Amino acid sequence: MKFFIDTANIDQIKEAQDLGVLDGVTTNPSLMAKEGISGEENIINHYKKICEIVDGDVSAEVISTDFEGMIKEGEKLAALHPQIVVKIPMIKEGIKAIKYLTEKGIKTNCTLVFSVGQALLAAKAGATYVSPFIGRLDDVSTDGVELIAQIVEMNSYYGFETQVLAASIRHTMHIIQCMEVGADVATCPLSAILGLANHPLTDIGLEKFLADYKKVNG
Ligand code: E4P
Repeated sequence: MKFFIDTANIDQIKEAQDLGVLDGVTTNPSLMAKEGISGEENIINHYKKICEIVDGDVSAEVISTDFEGMIKEGEKLAALHPQIVVKIPMIKEGIKAIKYLTEKGIKTNCTLVFSVGQALLAAKAGATYVSPFIGRLDDVSTDGVELIAQIVEMNSYYGFETQVLAASIRHTMHIIQCMEVGADVATCPLSAILGLANHPLTDIGLEKFLADYKKVNG
């Protein structure tokens, strides 16, 4: 399972990259705004900076909602760097834009997916990634991980190549549950990636190993 980091924060992206287990980055307009990145030039430079830090795919989201606007923005974003994946919302115009960009050889990430029917449309349009938002589903008492399982099964049954990118991950259990049902990618906050390393028995064990070493070696 690939790990993407779900942030536009440069320090966090660098920290995750330094761990050596990072496969890519996802951003969205809210995450960019959170970092105070505004204005076309700054936004473009920020995406380029992220691409220079990581080796894998970097999702950059369009803000247009009409077909012409989405493909114009998508082509511009894709031209910035070979690692850029154009993030397109799951709306009618978005499906057409995914199909168009895919045929042009541009990678896409279909975002804001909340049902298996939406994931079917994304796959049929040829999206590189489909992003079901599991945390936001859990927030409305719907099992987000169950949706990941359904989409993974659909892809395997029909041989769709669209990668299932579990998004809106809130904690380590989400990552583990996504792994158990075969998600291709989990895009996570840094805290959730780092949280996987934690175990009290590891801390206790390490403390004892070091204390025992000290006893005989001083
Ligand atoms: C996906 O790519 C989105 O950027 C993200 O995972 C949304 O997560 P949220 O529900 O925490 O905003």
